[in-house]
Amino acid sequence: MFWISAVVFAVVVGLLVASIRRGRRDHDPEIDRSEAPWGEPFIAIAGVAVPALILLGVYVFSLSEMNALQAAGSKPAMTVEVSARDWWWEARYPNGAVTANEIHIPIGVPVRLDLTTRDVIHSFWVPRLQVKTDNIPGRHNYMWIQADRAGRYRGFCAEFCGLQHTNMNFWIVAEPQAEFDAWLDDQVADVTEAALALDGAEIFLSSSCAGCHALRGTTAVGLAGPDLTHLAARETLAGVLPNTRSSLEQFIRDPQSVKPGIAMPPAELTADELRAVV
Ligand code: CUA
Repeated sequence: MFWISAVVFAVVVGLLVASIRRGRRDHDPEIDRSEAPWGEPFIAIAGVAVPALILLGVYVFSLSEMNALQAAGSKPAMTVEVSARDWWWEARYPNGAVTANEIHIPIGVPVRLDLTTRDVIHSFWVPRLQVKTDNIPGRHNYMWIQADRAGRYRGFCAEFCGLQHTNMNFWIVAEPQAEFDAWLDDQVADVTEAALALDGAEIFLSSSCAGCHALRGTTAVGLAGPDLTHLAARETLAGVLPNTRSSLEQFIRDPQSVKPGIAMPPAELTADELRAVV
């Protein structure tokens, strides 16, 4: 299409230059034009027939290319749901992983995108990977992208959608399949550890633990036992046990079995509570 356009452009500019050189030299209002009611044959051919043929050819050509583009993505490795909203992007993966403004894909395979919006019209555009496709309220638009080289590809919202339209940006992160799989596995994991730790903190602070131990920065200010702030950085527990999860659990459950006679009573915690505290 570029070279066809280049040839047409050259011919048109050539004719323009020629006509400027001829100027008004041959202009004669007395010439009788009634013999050519549809205009000069040159105009009819070069101005109507030839452009019509060229445009028709280009039209058919681009239709077949569009089909090829669609077909290339017909066997996608997976489908990612991309939902747009003011003014950010949400991506949902088949395994339940969800991310925002950062869409990871494996390299070398087509990835299908299911484009929707929660509010107004947006447009998903990663210039280095694909043409843009609109996210339209009440519709699912499908497109596919494929990155053959690992890297980060900048994406934009290409449809004015309000105050922060210009900052509605995102990244496509393309990585080798193995790295992508690892990323996807990590993404689907819940925040169990963190949630458990929060539970543990609550139990610690509301139980008798806080009566004897201090955790600086919390309501636990007990002075009878060791200050436990940064306990995890110490090498031993009570000076006799290696500082591991299992020995900490054992010590809290039954301190007397570790150091008979010490002031610390056995914990009145359920197994789950104990695990959370540890
Ligand atoms: Cu979303 Cu512009």
